[in-house]
Amino acid sequence: MLKCLNIRWNLLRSLLLFISCLLLLAFYSYLKARPSYALYDNLTRQEREESLALIHNSRGNEKYVYFKQLQGAGFNNQAQEILLFHHLALITSRIYVYQPLVWRPRGEKSHVPLSAFLSGPTKSTISSAVFNEVCPESEIYRVNLRVNYISQWERAVSVLSGNERCIVVTDWIFNWGYLATPGIHTIWPSYQKYLANHFEWSDSVLSIVDRSQTKLRLHSNVHKDGEPYIAIHLRRGDFEGHCESLASDHIGFTTWATLPVLQLSVLLPALDTSNATSITAHCYPSLYRILDAISHQARLHPNVRTLHVLHDGAWDHPLVYLQYYKLAEALKNDAWAKREGWPNGPMVRITQSADVPIGWGEADWAVCVDVELGRRAEAFIGNGYSSLSTQISALRLGDGGRPEDITFV
Ligand SMILES: *[C@@H]1O[C@H](CO)[C@@H](O)[C@H](O)[C@H]1NC(C)=O
Ligand SMILES: *[C@@H]1O[C@H](CO)[C@@H](O)[C@H](O)[C@H]1NC(C)=O
Repeated sequence: MLKCLNIRWNLLRSLLLFISCLLLLAFYSYLKARPSYALYDNLTRQEREESLALIHNSRGNEKYVYFKQLQGAGFNNQAQEILLFHHLALITSRIYVYQPLVWRPRGEKSHVPLSAFLSGPTKSTISSAVFNEVCPESEIYRVNLRVNYISQWERAVSVLSGNERCIVVTDWIFNWGYLATPGIHTIWPSYQKYLANHFEWSDSVLSIVDRSQTKLRLHSNVHKDGEPYIAIHLRRGDFEGHCESLASDHIGFTTWATLPVLQLSVLLPALDTSNATSITAHCYPSLYRILDAISHQARLHPNVRTLHVLHDGAWDHPLVYLQYYKLAEALKNDAWAKREGWPNGPMVRITQSADVPIGWGEADWAVCVDVELGRRAEAFIGNGYSSLSTQISALRLGDGGRPEDITFV
Protein backbone atom coordinates (compact mmCIF):
# COMPACT_ATOMS: atom_id res chain seq x y z
CA MET A 1 0.00 0.00 0.00
CA LEU A 2 2.68 2.43 1.09
CA LYS A 3 4.84 1.43 -1.86
CA CYS A 4 2.01 2.02 -4.26
CA LEU A 5 1.41 5.50 -2.89
CA ASN A 6 5.11 6.17 -3.18
CA ILE A 7 5.15 5.26 -6.86
CA ARG A 8 2.14 7.42 -7.53
CA TRP A 9 3.76 10.33 -5.76
CA ASN A 10 6.93 9.91 -7.81
CA LEU A 11 4.90 9.85 -10.98
CA LEU A 12 3.02 12.96 -9.98
CA ARG A 13 6.25 14.72 -9.12
CA SER A 14 7.83 13.90 -12.48
CA LEU A 15 4.71 15.06 -14.23
CA LEU A 16 4.67 18.34 -12.33
CA LEU A 17 8.35 18.88 -13.09
CA PHE A 18 7.71 18.19 -16.78
CA ILE A 19 4.81 20.64 -16.92
CA SER A 20 6.82 23.33 -15.12
CA CYS A 21 9.65 22.92 -17.62
CA LEU A 22 7.24 23.29 -20.52
CA LEU A 23 5.71 26.41 -19.04
CA LEU A 24 9.12 27.91 -18.37
CA LEU A 25 10.18 27.19 -21.94
CA ALA A 26 7.00 28.73 -23.35
CA PHE A 27 7.46 31.80 -21.16
CA TYR A 28 11.09 32.12 -22.19
CA SER A 29 10.41 31.98 -25.93
CA TYR A 30 7.49 34.34 -25.44
CA LEU A 31 9.72 36.92 -23.77
CA LYS A 32 12.59 36.46 -26.22
CA ALA A 33 10.27 37.11 -29.16
CA ARG A 34 9.77 40.65 -27.86
CA PRO A 35 12.26 43.50 -28.27
CA SER A 36 15.03 43.36 -25.69
CA TYR A 37 14.83 45.44 -22.56
CA ALA A 38 18.28 46.74 -23.50
CA LEU A 39 16.79 48.32 -26.62
CA TYR A 40 13.88 49.76 -24.66
CA ASP A 41 16.27 51.10 -22.01
CA ASN A 42 18.22 52.80 -24.78
CA LEU A 43 15.10 54.36 -26.24
CA THR A 44 14.00 55.55 -22.80
CA ARG A 45 17.40 57.17 -22.33
CA GLN A 46 17.19 58.74 -25.78
CA GLU A 47 13.70 60.10 -25.03
CA ARG A 48 15.09 61.68 -21.88
CA GLU A 49 18.06 63.24 -23.65
CA GLU A 50 15.94 64.64 -26.48
CA SER A 51 13.40 66.03 -24.01
CA LEU A 52 16.15 67.75 -22.01
CA ALA A 53 17.60 69.20 -25.20
CA LEU A 54 14.18 70.55 -26.15
CA ILE A 55 13.79 72.18 -22.72
CA HIS A 56 17.33 73.53 -22.95
CA ASN A 57 16.66 75.20 -26.30
CA SER A 58 13.27 76.56 -25.31
CA ARG A 59 12.61 80.28 -25.34
CA GLY A 60 10.93 80.23 -21.93
CA ASN A 61 7.37 81.04 -22.97
CA GLU A 62 6.40 77.43 -23.74
CA LYS A 63 3.35 75.93 -22.10
CA TYR A 64 2.96 72.27 -21.16
CA VAL A 65 0.16 69.78 -20.55
CA TYR A 66 0.24 66.43 -18.80
CA PHE A 67 -2.90 64.26 -18.98
CA LYS A 68 -4.29 61.53 -16.81
CA GLN A 69 -3.97 58.65 -19.20
CA LEU A 70 -5.35 55.16 -19.69
CA GLN A 71 -3.04 52.61 -18.05
CA GLY A 72 -3.22 49.27 -19.78
CA ALA A 73 -5.79 47.88 -22.25
CA GLY A 74 -4.80 47.12 -25.82
CA PHE A 75 -2.31 49.01 -27.97
CA ASN A 76 -4.95 50.76 -30.07
CA ASN A 77 -6.94 51.91 -27.06
CA GLN A 78 -3.84 53.60 -25.68
CA ALA A 79 -2.64 54.87 -29.05
CA GLN A 80 -5.96 56.49 -29.99
CA GLU A 81 -5.99 58.35 -26.69
CA ILE A 82 -2.36 59.47 -26.96
CA LEU A 83 -3.01 60.79 -30.48
CA LEU A 84 -6.05 62.72 -29.26
CA PHE A 85 -4.03 64.20 -26.37
CA HIS A 86 -1.23 65.19 -28.70
CA HIS A 87 -3.74 66.79 -31.05
CA LEU A 88 -5.36 68.65 -28.17
CA ALA A 89 -1.95 69.89 -26.98
CA LEU A 90 -1.03 71.09 -30.48
CA ILE A 91 -4.21 73.04 -31.11
CA THR A 92 -3.91 74.74 -27.71
CA SER A 93 -0.23 75.58 -28.34
CA ARG A 94 1.09 73.39 -25.55
CA ILE A 95 3.94 70.92 -25.47
CA TYR A 96 2.54 67.43 -24.91
CA VAL A 97 4.08 65.53 -22.02
CA TYR A 98 4.04 61.92 -23.19
CA GLN A 99 4.06 58.82 -21.01
CA PRO A 100 5.28 55.30 -21.72
CA LEU A 101 2.83 52.69 -23.02
CA VAL A 102 1.66 50.10 -20.54
CA TRP A 103 2.45 46.92 -22.41
CA ARG A 104 0.13 44.18 -21.22
CA PRO A 105 1.77 41.37 -23.20
CA ARG A 106 4.85 41.88 -21.00
CA GLY A 107 2.88 41.92 -17.78
CA GLU A 108 0.18 44.17 -16.34
CA LYS A 109 2.49 46.95 -15.17
CA SER A 110 5.26 46.79 -17.72
CA HIS A 111 6.13 50.17 -19.22
CA VAL A 112 7.69 50.48 -22.66
CA PRO A 113 8.92 53.67 -24.38
CA LEU A 114 6.34 55.30 -26.65
CA SER A 115 8.97 56.20 -29.26
CA ALA A 116 9.45 52.49 -29.99
CA PHE A 117 5.96 52.55 -31.53
CA LEU A 118 4.94 56.08 -32.53
CA SER A 119 7.22 58.84 -33.72
CA GLY A 120 4.52 61.50 -34.07
CA PRO A 121 3.68 62.22 -30.40
CA THR A 122 7.33 61.91 -29.33
CA LYS A 123 8.52 64.67 -31.67
CA SER A 124 8.92 68.23 -30.29
CA THR A 125 7.29 66.99 -27.09
CA ILE A 126 8.78 65.97 -23.75
CA SER A 127 8.83 62.72 -21.82
CA SER A 128 7.02 62.59 -18.49
CA ALA A 129 10.38 61.53 -16.99
CA VAL A 130 11.61 65.14 -17.21
CA PHE A 131 8.30 66.92 -16.60
CA ASN A 132 9.27 68.00 -13.07
CA GLU A 133 12.47 69.60 -14.33
CA VAL A 134 10.49 72.07 -16.41
CA CYS A 135 7.38 72.23 -14.25
CA PRO A 136 8.23 72.11 -10.54
CA GLU A 137 5.38 71.17 -8.23
CA SER A 138 4.81 74.80 -7.18
CA GLU A 139 4.11 75.90 -10.77
CA ILE A 140 1.61 73.18 -11.62
CA TYR A 141 -2.02 74.11 -12.16
CA ARG A 142 -4.23 71.06 -11.64
CA VAL A 143 -7.60 70.95 -13.34
CA ASN A 144 -10.57 68.65 -13.81
CA LEU A 145 -11.93 68.87 -17.33
CA ARG A 146 -14.85 66.47 -17.39
CA VAL A 147 -18.23 67.91 -18.28
CA ASN A 148 -21.09 66.52 -20.36
CA TYR A 149 -20.24 64.82 -23.66
CA ILE A 150 -21.65 67.59 -25.83
CA SER A 151 -19.31 70.33 -24.59
CA GLN A 152 -16.37 68.15 -23.46
CA TRP A 153 -14.03 69.03 -26.33
CA GLU A 154 -14.77 72.75 -26.33
CA ARG A 155 -14.22 72.93 -22.60
CA ALA A 156 -10.89 71.08 -22.88
CA VAL A 157 -9.75 73.40 -25.68
CA SER A 158 -10.85 76.50 -23.81
CA VAL A 159 -9.15 75.61 -20.50
CA LEU A 160 -5.94 74.45 -22.14
CA SER A 161 -5.81 77.68 -24.17
CA GLY A 162 -5.37 79.54 -20.88
CA ASN A 163 -2.15 81.19 -19.73
CA GLU A 164 -1.06 78.73 -17.01
CA ARG A 165 2.37 77.49 -18.00
CA CYS A 166 2.05 73.97 -16.60
CA ILE A 167 -1.30 72.19 -16.60
CA VAL A 168 -1.94 68.72 -15.22
CA VAL A 169 -5.33 67.29 -16.18
CA THR A 170 -6.39 65.16 -13.23
CA ASP A 171 -9.45 63.39 -14.61
CA TRP A 172 -9.72 60.94 -17.50
CA ILE A 173 -11.40 62.89 -20.28
CA PHE A 174 -11.28 60.37 -23.15
CA ASN A 175 -13.02 57.68 -21.12
CA TRP A 176 -14.82 54.80 -22.87
CA GLY A 177 -18.23 56.40 -22.44
CA TYR A 178 -17.22 59.65 -24.12
CA LEU A 179 -15.46 57.85 -26.98
CA ALA A 180 -18.70 56.05 -27.89
CA THR A 181 -20.82 59.24 -28.06
CA PRO A 182 -21.42 61.68 -30.91
CA GLY A 183 -19.62 64.20 -28.65
CA ILE A 184 -16.38 63.20 -30.39
CA HIS A 185 -17.70 64.18 -33.82
CA THR A 186 -16.77 67.81 -33.12
CA ILE A 187 -13.13 66.69 -32.89
CA TRP A 188 -13.11 64.93 -36.25
CA PRO A 189 -12.49 67.79 -38.76
CA SER A 190 -9.34 68.97 -36.98
CA TYR A 191 -8.29 65.47 -35.95
CA GLN A 192 -8.45 64.30 -39.56
CA LYS A 193 -5.90 67.00 -40.42
CA TYR A 194 -3.84 66.04 -37.39
CA LEU A 195 -3.61 62.45 -38.65
CA ALA A 196 -2.57 63.64 -42.09
CA ASN A 197 0.19 65.89 -40.71
CA HIS A 198 1.41 64.32 -37.48
CA PHE A 199 0.72 60.60 -37.49
CA GLU A 200 3.98 58.68 -37.85
CA TRP A 201 5.12 55.17 -36.92
CA SER A 202 8.56 54.46 -35.50
CA ASP A 203 11.28 53.31 -37.90
CA SER A 204 11.12 49.78 -36.43
CA VAL A 205 7.45 49.48 -37.37
CA LEU A 206 7.97 50.94 -40.84
CA SER A 207 10.82 48.59 -41.64
CA ILE A 208 8.69 45.53 -40.80
CA VAL A 209 5.80 46.90 -42.89
CA ASP A 210 8.18 47.39 -45.80
CA ARG A 211 9.56 43.87 -45.46
CA SER A 212 6.00 42.46 -45.22
CA GLN A 213 4.79 44.16 -48.38
CA THR A 214 7.79 42.84 -50.28
CA LYS A 215 7.43 39.29 -48.97
CA LEU A 216 3.63 39.11 -49.31
CA ARG A 217 3.65 41.08 -52.59
CA LEU A 218 1.10 43.61 -51.36
CA HIS A 219 0.79 46.82 -53.34
CA SER A 220 1.39 50.34 -52.01
CA ASN A 221 2.75 53.60 -53.44
CA VAL A 222 6.25 52.36 -52.69
CA HIS A 223 5.65 48.69 -53.55
CA LYS A 224 4.33 49.22 -57.03
CA ASP A 225 5.03 45.68 -58.21
CA GLY A 226 2.89 44.25 -55.40
CA GLU A 227 -0.74 43.28 -55.99
CA PRO A 228 -3.61 45.51 -54.91
CA TYR A 229 -5.38 43.93 -51.93
CA ILE A 230 -8.42 44.20 -49.71
CA ALA A 231 -7.73 43.94 -45.97
CA ILE A 232 -10.20 42.50 -43.52
CA HIS A 233 -9.89 42.59 -39.74
CA LEU A 234 -11.42 39.58 -38.01
CA ARG A 235 -11.85 40.34 -34.34
CA ARG A 236 -12.36 36.94 -32.75
CA GLY A 237 -10.51 35.30 -29.88
CA ASP A 238 -11.69 36.78 -26.60
CA PHE A 239 -14.21 39.05 -28.34
CA GLU A 240 -17.18 36.71 -28.03
CA GLY A 241 -17.58 37.28 -24.29
CA HIS A 242 -16.94 41.00 -24.74
CA CYS A 243 -19.71 41.19 -27.37
CA GLU A 244 -22.15 39.44 -25.05
CA SER A 245 -21.68 42.10 -22.41
CA LEU A 246 -21.90 44.89 -25.02
CA ALA A 247 -25.17 43.37 -26.27
CA SER A 248 -26.71 43.12 -22.82
CA ASP A 249 -25.66 46.73 -22.05
CA HIS A 250 -26.89 47.98 -25.48
CA ILE A 251 -23.58 49.63 -26.36
CA GLY A 252 -23.01 51.06 -29.86
CA PHE A 253 -19.88 51.27 -32.05
CA THR A 254 -16.73 52.88 -30.69
CA THR A 255 -15.03 56.17 -31.70
CA TRP A 256 -14.77 56.89 -35.42
CA ALA A 257 -17.13 54.08 -36.47
CA THR A 258 -19.90 56.38 -35.20
CA LEU A 259 -18.93 59.20 -37.63
CA PRO A 260 -21.87 60.24 -39.84
CA VAL A 261 -19.58 60.01 -42.90
CA LEU A 262 -19.13 56.27 -42.21
CA GLN A 263 -22.75 55.31 -41.59
CA LEU A 264 -23.25 54.16 -45.19
CA SER A 265 -20.22 51.92 -44.68
CA VAL A 266 -22.07 49.77 -42.16
CA LEU A 267 -23.22 46.49 -43.70
CA LEU A 268 -27.00 46.19 -43.64
CA PRO A 269 -29.12 45.63 -41.64
CA ALA A 270 -27.83 48.70 -39.81
CA LEU A 271 -26.86 48.52 -36.15
CA ASP A 272 -29.84 48.85 -33.81
CA THR A 273 -28.54 49.24 -30.27
CA SER A 274 -31.98 48.61 -28.77
CA ASN A 275 -31.77 45.08 -30.24
CA ALA A 276 -29.22 42.78 -28.56
CA THR A 277 -29.25 40.37 -31.53
CA SER A 278 -28.31 43.22 -33.85
CA ILE A 279 -25.38 44.17 -31.60
CA THR A 280 -24.13 40.58 -31.61
CA ALA A 281 -24.51 40.38 -35.41
CA HIS A 282 -22.18 43.39 -35.83
CA CYS A 283 -19.84 42.69 -32.94
CA TYR A 284 -19.32 38.96 -33.50
CA PRO A 285 -20.48 38.49 -37.11
CA SER A 286 -21.26 35.11 -38.63
CA LEU A 287 -19.14 33.73 -41.44
CA TYR A 288 -22.02 34.58 -43.84
CA ARG A 289 -21.97 38.20 -42.81
CA ILE A 290 -18.22 38.37 -43.18
CA LEU A 291 -18.48 36.86 -46.67
CA ASP A 292 -21.21 39.39 -47.56
CA ALA A 293 -18.94 42.25 -46.53
CA ILE A 294 -16.05 40.88 -48.61
CA SER A 295 -18.37 40.37 -51.60
CA HIS A 296 -19.51 43.96 -51.35
CA GLN A 297 -15.94 45.28 -51.52
CA ALA A 298 -14.89 42.69 -54.13
CA ARG A 299 -17.65 43.91 -56.47
CA LEU A 300 -16.57 47.53 -55.90
CA HIS A 301 -12.93 46.62 -56.63
CA PRO A 302 -13.06 44.10 -59.48
CA ASN A 303 -9.32 44.53 -60.11
CA VAL A 304 -8.42 43.19 -56.65
CA ARG A 305 -7.77 39.46 -56.41
CA THR A 306 -5.80 39.40 -53.15
CA LEU A 307 -7.20 39.47 -49.65
CA HIS A 308 -5.13 40.08 -46.53
CA VAL A 309 -6.68 38.90 -43.27
CA LEU A 310 -5.72 40.67 -40.04
CA HIS A 311 -6.61 38.47 -37.12
CA ASP A 312 -5.77 37.86 -33.52
CA GLY A 313 -5.25 34.12 -33.86
CA ALA A 314 -2.57 32.70 -31.62
CA TRP A 315 -1.87 29.40 -29.95
CA ASP A 316 -4.42 30.34 -27.27
CA HIS A 317 -7.16 31.02 -29.86
CA PRO A 318 -6.81 28.15 -32.35
CA LEU A 319 -10.43 28.48 -33.55
CA VAL A 320 -9.53 31.72 -35.32
CA TYR A 321 -7.36 29.70 -37.70
CA LEU A 322 -10.20 27.29 -38.41
CA GLN A 323 -12.45 30.21 -39.35
CA TYR A 324 -9.68 31.68 -41.47
CA TYR A 325 -9.38 28.43 -43.46
CA LYS A 326 -13.15 28.17 -43.93
CA LEU A 327 -13.21 31.74 -45.20
CA ALA A 328 -10.26 31.20 -47.53
CA GLU A 329 -11.90 28.13 -49.02
CA ALA A 330 -15.13 29.96 -49.88
CA LEU A 331 -13.33 32.98 -51.32
CA LYS A 332 -11.23 30.90 -53.70
CA ASN A 333 -14.26 28.98 -54.95
CA ASP A 334 -15.10 29.72 -58.59
CA ALA A 335 -18.80 28.82 -58.40
CA TRP A 336 -19.29 30.82 -55.21
CA ALA A 337 -17.66 33.92 -56.71
CA LYS A 338 -19.91 33.60 -59.77
CA ARG A 339 -23.05 33.35 -57.63
CA GLU A 340 -21.92 36.45 -55.74
CA GLY A 341 -21.57 38.34 -59.01
CA TRP A 342 -17.82 38.93 -58.86
CA PRO A 343 -16.86 39.98 -62.39
CA ASN A 344 -13.32 38.57 -62.41
CA GLY A 345 -13.66 35.25 -60.63
CA PRO A 346 -12.68 34.32 -57.06
CA MET A 347 -9.78 35.58 -54.95
CA VAL A 348 -6.47 34.28 -56.17
CA ARG A 349 -4.32 34.91 -53.14
CA ILE A 350 -5.15 35.11 -49.46
CA THR A 351 -2.55 36.17 -46.92
CA GLN A 352 -2.88 36.67 -43.16
CA SER A 353 -1.26 38.24 -40.12
CA ALA A 354 0.56 35.00 -39.40
CA ASP A 355 2.41 35.32 -42.76
CA VAL A 356 3.88 38.69 -41.82
CA PRO A 357 7.64 38.22 -41.43
CA ILE A 358 8.01 39.26 -37.79
CA GLY A 359 11.61 38.56 -36.82
CA TRP A 360 13.13 37.53 -33.53
CA GLY A 361 12.61 40.29 -30.97
CA GLU A 362 9.93 42.11 -32.97
CA ALA A 363 6.69 40.70 -31.54
CA ASP A 364 5.62 43.93 -29.77
CA TRP A 365 5.31 45.66 -33.14
CA ALA A 366 3.07 43.10 -34.87
CA VAL A 367 -0.12 44.97 -33.97
CA CYS A 368 1.20 48.20 -35.51
CA VAL A 369 2.10 46.35 -38.71
CA ASP A 370 -1.49 45.06 -38.89
CA VAL A 371 -2.84 48.60 -38.60
CA GLU A 372 -0.54 49.94 -41.32
CA LEU A 373 -1.32 47.08 -43.74
CA GLY A 374 -5.03 47.77 -43.21
CA ARG A 375 -4.45 51.46 -43.88
CA ARG A 376 -2.59 50.85 -47.16
CA ALA A 377 -5.13 48.39 -48.64
CA GLU A 378 -7.43 49.31 -51.59
CA ALA A 379 -10.39 48.63 -49.33
CA PHE A 380 -10.82 47.77 -45.68
CA ILE A 381 -13.42 45.64 -43.89
CA GLY A 382 -13.50 46.05 -40.14
CA ASN A 383 -15.48 45.78 -36.95
CA GLY A 384 -17.10 48.94 -35.56
CA TYR A 385 -16.59 47.65 -32.02
CA SER A 386 -12.84 47.25 -32.37
CA SER A 387 -10.35 50.04 -31.71
CA LEU A 388 -7.93 48.46 -34.21
CA SER A 389 -10.56 48.66 -36.96
CA THR A 390 -11.59 52.22 -36.09
CA GLN A 391 -7.95 53.30 -35.93
CA ILE A 392 -7.38 51.93 -39.43
CA SER A 393 -10.54 53.67 -40.68
CA ALA A 394 -9.52 57.00 -39.18
CA LEU A 395 -6.05 56.78 -40.70
CA ARG A 396 -7.52 55.96 -44.11
CA LEU A 397 -9.86 58.97 -43.97
CA GLY A 398 -6.94 61.08 -42.71
CA ASP A 399 -5.06 60.11 -45.88
CA GLY A 400 -8.00 61.29 -47.98
CA GLY A 401 -9.37 57.74 -48.40
CA ARG A 402 -12.98 57.24 -49.48
CA PRO A 403 -15.66 56.15 -46.98
CA GLU A 404 -17.08 53.72 -49.56
CA ASP A 405 -13.82 51.75 -49.48
CA ILE A 406 -14.55 50.92 -45.84
CA THR A 407 -17.14 48.38 -44.69
CA PHE A 408 -18.04 47.63 -41.08
CA VAL A 409 -19.53 44.14 -40.73
C1 LIG B 1 22.17 50.37 -26.35
O1 LIG B 1 23.09 51.42 -26.38
C2 LIG B 1 24.44 51.03 -26.19
C3 LIG B 1 25.30 52.26 -26.05
O2 LIG B 1 24.91 53.26 -26.95
C4 LIG B 1 24.83 50.14 -27.38
O3 LIG B 1 26.17 49.71 -27.24
C5 LIG B 1 23.90 48.94 -27.43
O4 LIG B 1 24.19 48.15 -28.58
C6 LIG B 1 22.45 49.37 -27.47
N1 LIG B 1 21.63 48.19 -27.33
C7 LIG B 1 20.56 47.97 -28.09
C8 LIG B 1 19.84 46.68 -27.88
O5 LIG B 1 20.16 48.77 -28.93
C1 LIG C 1 -33.02 42.31 -34.12
O1 LIG C 1 -31.90 42.12 -34.98
C2 LIG C 1 -31.91 40.90 -35.70
C3 LIG C 1 -30.57 40.79 -36.43
O2 LIG C 1 -30.33 41.92 -37.23
C4 LIG C 1 -33.11 40.84 -36.62
O3 LIG C 1 -33.14 39.62 -37.31
C5 LIG C 1 -34.38 41.04 -35.81
O4 LIG C 1 -35.49 41.11 -36.67
C6 LIG C 1 -34.30 42.31 -34.96
N1 LIG C 1 -35.44 42.37 -34.06
C7 LIG C 1 -36.22 43.46 -33.99
C8 LIG C 1 -37.33 43.37 -33.00
O5 LIG C 1 -36.05 44.44 -34.67
